[in-house]
Amino acid sequence: MGQLSVDLCGIRLDNPVIPASGTFGFGYEFADVYDINCLGTFSFKGTTKEPRLGNPTPRIAECPAGLINSVGLQNPGVDRVISEELPKLRKVFRKPVMANISGFSLEEYAFVAERLDGEDCVGWIEVNISCPNVHGGGMSFGTDPKSAGQVVSAVKAVTKKPVIVKLSPNVTDVTEIAKACEEKGADGISLINTLLGMRIDLKTRRPVVANLMGGYSGPGIFPVALRMVFQTAKAVKIPVVGMGGVSSAEDVVEMMLAGATAVEVGSANLVDPAASKKIIDSLPETMQKYGITNLSDIIGGAL
Ligand code: SIN
Repeated sequence: MGQLSVDLCGIRLDNPVIPASGTFGFGYEFADVYDINCLGTFSFKGTTKEPRLGNPTPRIAECPAGLINSVGLQNPGVDRVISEELPKLRKVFRKPVMANISGFSLEEYAFVAERLDGEDCVGWIEVNISCPNVHGGGMSFGTDPKSAGQVVSAVKAVTKKPVIVKLSPNVTDVTEIAKACEEKGADGISLINTLLGMRIDLKTRRPVVANLMGGYSGPGIFPVALRMVFQTAKAVKIPVVGMGGVSSAEDVVEMMLAGATAVEVGSANLVDPAASKKIIDSLPETMQKYGITNLSDIIGGAL
């Protein structure tokens, strides 16, 4: 059998497959479906300083090749994540987890990062500066190189864990943002978050999503994501985690050829809760088909 392991910012993953934040809860919810220890790791639900109820409903609009969500960073807040969610996760998951964090100010990002820095089960901190569904936070930090860099500095100052910055595709040149993050000490970049989109209900003639717009994800965005991963991997020296519409082992291989060290799987988990496991299970056969003996050898192979 081929070699599936990769190194992500100094931490070994048994395989490069990582369920993406917002599609996998706090992990333990999936433990009845399969043993989640087969995953490389997963990124838990975006966590903020204060608890958040999220956006008004409806929050989801179906699309032919994916969906639009406007969840609005619903989460119990970092203190309850630490006291209630992580203890449940520890019972079923023996690997380091990726902690996805969001904020509405530099202080909030730093607060959440510092709290999670104290948790031994957290391997990486994934800093979300790309949520399109909230006002005054999220994506507003990730569309300008200077503010993106400021978030990185604020988080790096309070944690020793590797910091991976999750970028938005809703920008003119993603490489400028990625380079600004690298300059301020980011240990990795993950991309892409969702593409801003909308649907209108023909019967009511109103937007389907209460917040009018939301983030579009699913197989339809894969070529856009792949292009941005390719561009970013060429522009920075730090590892890139690729995501956006990944739904098969072939997609994982393609993302890695474009320069991804690891690959996040998002919407596919919403279609089939076992999707990430099925992708991992079919990686060996896919590797054999394309003559790959060691997955980490193909990272950036198409650059
Ligand atoms: C959300 O909770 O609105 C989704 C998070 C994101 O897209 O970053």
